[in-house]
Amino acid sequence: MPISPAPLTQLPVRRLGSEDLLACADLSENRGWPREEHKWGLLLTAGTGHGMDDPHGPGLAAGSVVTSYGPGLAAIGMVLVAERYARQGLGRRLMQHVLAEAGDTPLTLYATPNGQPLYEQLGFTEISRSTMVRGHFTFTAPAPEAAVRPATAEDLPAVLRLDHEVFGLDRTHIIARLPAFADHLRVAEENGEIIGFAAAWPNMDTHVIGPLIARDPATAQALIASLAAATDRPLRTDIDVRHTSLLGWAKENGIDAVATNAVMVRSLPDLPGDWRRRFAPLTVAAG
Ligand SMILES: CC(C)(COP(=O)(O)OP(=O)(O)OC[C@H]1O[C@@H](n2cnc3c(N)ncnc32)[C@H](O)[C@@H]1OP(=O)(O)O)[C@@H](O)C(=O)NCCC(=O)NCCS
Repeated sequence: MPISPAPLTQLPVRRLGSEDLLACADLSENRGWPREEHKWGLLLTAGTGHGMDDPHGPGLAAGSVVTSYGPGLAAIGMVLVAERYARQGLGRRLMQHVLAEAGDTPLTLYATPNGQPLYEQLGFTEISRSTMVRGHFTFTAPAPEAAVRPATAEDLPAVLRLDHEVFGLDRTHIIARLPAFADHLRVAEENGEIIGFAAAWPNMDTHVIGPLIARDPATAQALIASLAAATDRPLRTDIDVRHTSLLGWAKENGIDAVATNAVMVRSLPDLPGDWRRRFAPLTVAAG
């Protein structure tokens, strides 16, 4: 007697690693997302991937990545179900597995309108929204004068200190990867003190700006303008909707809204750290 395949909702979930990078990129492409291999590469090495193999052929039926920031927080990203398995319970099954693995650890994610209903059912609540902006930087609206320069290895301890203070948790395992992952890493300085930093990393035909940490919107503008001068590519970044002045300035410079995502948390009233100085995440996929 032929053995009938297990129901889709009982498909085993397995860990994904760097060897799954191309299958992950295929999954993105299948869902109409860009392949983003450079980003997947970082997430699969700095974080933990979870996925389900396609029972009917090569490749993945579903995948996601969790980036851990210790017991205080983990970020979920790249939650994807192959189009051919849409709306058959795989997304829910994968998320339930990730939640069980996370245990008591508070969680955060950026939800697309597609994913938000599922996350709400699983106990996530919206605490803010984030605007994805994109465009060729026009240098129309000037940035304030500020001392911005490329970061050096000697800056790393000060960058890590500032990041810890603003992000609210230690993310050395992510920040220490930036010099290799990003094409440009800049710091803003005042009286010998680092008051902000930002990276620009390659993603498909764009440079993504993130993380972007700065003392105030003026410093954030100076960092963006400095990174914009270093590339001919369109820029992309994700800015919390509460940063209205930065969003307005970006729009004047040709970097305009293309989508809005919900910032959600679970088992946590709000994100740690200081949102006023946190202007953009490394990627919405890592919180
Ligand atoms: C979001 C996504 C992962 C959901 O996966 P899925 O396997 O299709 O979802 P499930 O079948 O497990 O559905 C779970 C619940 O989510 C909600 N849901 C799923 N797809 C939905 C849609 N297109 N519109 C509205 N609600 C939807 C429903 O409430 C559904 O429960 P129900 O079918 O009992 O009503 C999938 O649609 C996807 O990969 N989308 C593209 C990528 C994306 O946006 N990912 C989210 C990133 S944050």
